[in-house]
Amino acid sequence: MFSCQNKVAIVTGGASGIGANIVLEFLKENIKHVAIIDVDVDSGMRLQDSIDVKYGKGKATFYKCDVTNEVQLQEVFCNVIEKYESVDIVVNNAGVADDSPKMYKRTIEINFTALVATTIMALDHMRVDKGGKGGTIINISSITALDPSISAVHIYSSTKAAVIHFSTRLGVRLAILY
Ligand SMILES: NC(=O)c1ccc[n+]([C@@H]2O[C@H](COP(=O)([O-])OP(=O)(O)OC[C@H]3O[C@@H](n4cnc5c(N)ncnc54)[C@H](O)[C@@H]3O)[C@@H](O)[C@H]2O)c1
Repeated sequence: MFSCQNKVAIVTGGASGIGANIVLEFLKENIKHVAIIDVDVDSGMRLQDSIDVKYGKGKATFYKCDVTNEVQLQEVFCNVIEKYESVDIVVNNAGVADDSPKMYKRTIEINFTALVATTIMALDHMRVDKGGKGGTIINISSITALDPSISAVHIYSSTKAAVIHFSTRLGVRLAILY
């Protein structure tokens, strides 16, 4: 059975909502450390403080980081690897559902482009054939990707369909892509 013990995780969009609950579930499973990535500093710091109180300092660290900024993302990966030696689990959870004319490009960038970038960063570190020790990447999609009747946010749903397609392809044959 999969165990979180001695593992280090990064959760994007981990300051609130589903991401924060994933962080808390990892801690219940006795994970070694969780890096919480989010743009929402207030929620991120609040979550880190509550984890400090409940589990002791050092179990979780909040990083203010926009997943669409590859420099910031790389800094978080480097920082976590430097402190904890590895990244074993990456959860690409950060997402927005805004199809408005002003925001749809940002929705695509956050939900898909940044998820691809983070996945590639995680793979570069984890790949056994490149000296890594393996790992787990979890990409969060949505049921709206599969059933058009559920929601009217069609651009959001399309990004989530892309997440399913990308993740499935990676699982089938990594070597073709890289
Ligand atoms: N809530 C649902 O019913 C539902 C259903 C299916 C899938 N999802 C997916 O689950 C994930 C989490 O959804 P949620 O409901 O918890 O959303 P949420 O809005 O509660 O949380 C999303 C988090 O992502 C963060 N975030 C947004 N843009 C970011 C960026 N550029 N960089 C870093 N962090 C960023 C936000 O600050 C927030 O903390 C999303 O990918 C969403 O599409 C949600």
